[in-house]
Amino acid sequence: MRLRNVPKSLDFAYNHPNFIRQPDNYAGKWAEECFHNTNPVHLEIGSGKGNFIITLADLNRDINYIAMEKYMPVLGKLIKKLPEEGIPNLAATNADAEKLAEFFEAGELECIYLNFSDPWPKKKHAKRRLTNIKFLELYKKVLKDDGVIKFKTDNRDFFEYSIEQFEAAGFLLKDVTYDLHNSSFAEGNIKTEYEEKFTSLGLPIYMLKAYKGNGQAAE
Ligand SMILES: C[S@@+](CC[C@H](N)C(=O)[O-])C[C@H]1O[C@@H](n2cnc3c(N)ncnc32)[C@H](O)[C@@H]1O
Repeated sequence: MRLRNVPKSLDFAYNHPNFIRQPDNYAGKWAEECFHNTNPVHLEIGSGKGNFIITLADLNRDINYIAMEKYMPVLGKLIKKLPEEGIPNLAATNADAEKLAEFFEAGELECIYLNFSDPWPKKKHAKRRLTNIKFLELYKKVLKDDGVIKFKTDNRDFFEYSIEQFEAAGFLLKDVTYDLHNSSFAEGNIKTEYEEKFTSLGLPIYMLKAYKGNGQAAE
């Protein structure tokens, strides 16, 4: 079925079995009603073209993954990479993290990935940064008590700003590295499209894990 006001070129994406048109329909029941299981739910905000989350979903069939991307043409590129029949533990949705509280109930997520989020370098745009405390408070609500945010970026100023924001929001920081690919955390790291690009330019990648609780969560 074709939606109104939707470019025909994206029909394949809107009709794909992994595409979730109305994420608010699943608030509080993602595992049971979207994925039909009781497995933990992990969310990537700003999935871009999707290499990262598609690889994770392939590797970890016992975790449910949601790819959230604000721009439908970009989400279309992610969906294009999926098999026609879909992947059972992946949902792809065209949504804005601003509305996270409409999409998830308190404590519904085990993990949130923020990979190479837009740094919005101008001070006047700080509130748009996905690690601004306004967003961190939203994430805190929808994360489980032992939930974690995993954040990677190529931008040192943004990384340092984010550390301050995470600490101000009461997260416990662990595994903080200023050179992920030359650290002990490199093994098993899955590169995103942006990460491939920056790494090929010889730039260091910054990474941290921010725990809502005491950092005892499963990896
Ligand atoms: C710089 S790209 C990084 C893409 C991918 N994570 C990677 O590392 O290759 C940031 C992505 O986040 C998306 N984005 C930005 N703000 C968002 C928001 N508030 N909610 C959902 N997606 C967002 C953008 O559309 C863009 O695709």
